[in-house]
Amino acid sequence: MPVRNLISFDDVSVAWWDGLYKSCTEIMARPDDYRDACRGKLLASLFFESSTRTRFSFQAAMLRLGGSLFGFSNPADTSISKGESLADTIRMTSSYADTIVMRNPQEGAALAASLYSEVPVINAGDGGHLHPTQTLTDLTTIAQTRGVIGNVTVGLCGDLKYGRTVHSLVTALAKFPNVRFVLIAPDALKMPEYMTAFMRAHLMEYAVADSLESAIGDLDVLYMTRIQRERFDGAEENVDALMSKFTLTAELMKRAKSDLTVLHPLPRVNEIERAVDADPRAKYFEQARFGMFIRMALLLDFTHQPRGIEYPAHEGEHECGNPKCVTKTELYLPKRLNADGGCGYCDKKL
Ligand code: NCD
Repeated sequence: MPVRNLISFDDVSVAWWDGLYKSCTEIMARPDDYRDACRGKLLASLFFESSTRTRFSFQAAMLRLGGSLFGFSNPADTSISKGESLADTIRMTSSYADTIVMRNPQEGAALAASLYSEVPVINAGDGGHLHPTQTLTDLTTIAQTRGVIGNVTVGLCGDLKYGRTVHSLVTALAKFPNVRFVLIAPDALKMPEYMTAFMRAHLMEYAVADSLESAIGDLDVLYMTRIQRERFDGAEENVDALMSKFTLTAELMKRAKSDLTVLHPLPRVNEIERAVDADPRAKYFEQARFGMFIRMALLLDFTHQPRGIEYPAHEGEHECGNPKCVTKTELYLPKRLNADGGCGYCDKKL
């Protein structure tokens, strides 16, 4: 089935991933063959929240395909500051562009946007919820460094509460065989309940560890994340004193497997000691470059899709208790439930 929008990895199949990855490897092997592949196509790049890698890699990807882009990285410069709704901003922007990539601090914002767009919408991060194109980057790096995705023990370390890249990666790895997780985080930043419920529902094996030292020897992939301090809601005070237990050092690397793959979506703050960068098992800078190529494959597909819109039917008011959910400010959004009966936008329990 063709994929229209990339909002959550839950919406795509392994066959879709395989096709995208194949296209990515072809682009990596012969980038010059693709330099006009998106000639005449326009990407709208709507960043309501700060970004370095994701925004630049989409820009670089579009330019390397011969396409062009417009957009903003500061919503204060747009009519959103005059009170325009997300739906109207998207409807209008989609009439100019061939694909929209959007990052927004509200959970569920990309899904909401996709309901009002004439062209495909790519979720480049919706608050602490999901970040599926980072997951494309992560899967590409795992496939490139390990040959296959699956048959791995993956350590997820750091801020598992607000780390949207972690949530998307778990959602994606549910589709691959024999993936075990070790969740390595302080209690205040542990994996949210809706994600552990997802893991149980998908029969994914996971263990919990209270330090990196106790877990590192068992891991094939170590996924490090920074503390998402900007998303704290008051319940996470005093985590700083604990963070040394969740910091990757050159000393700890001595206890790790010789073929460990260390990933990090970046930006790194101080959760990975600089001395680790020279270790050949540290793949996080290569990971950022792979991200550009897999985004090229995604844009090549999405910018060539037919234009069209089906306005959502209004079936009653949507009520969600999550103050960070997009439905808290975009009050017109139609009622929508996910497969587990949770909020169809942010996935939290209603
Ligand atoms: C991540 C993000 O924005 O969620 N960065 C990225 O896109 N590469 C991780 C982070 O900000 O910590």
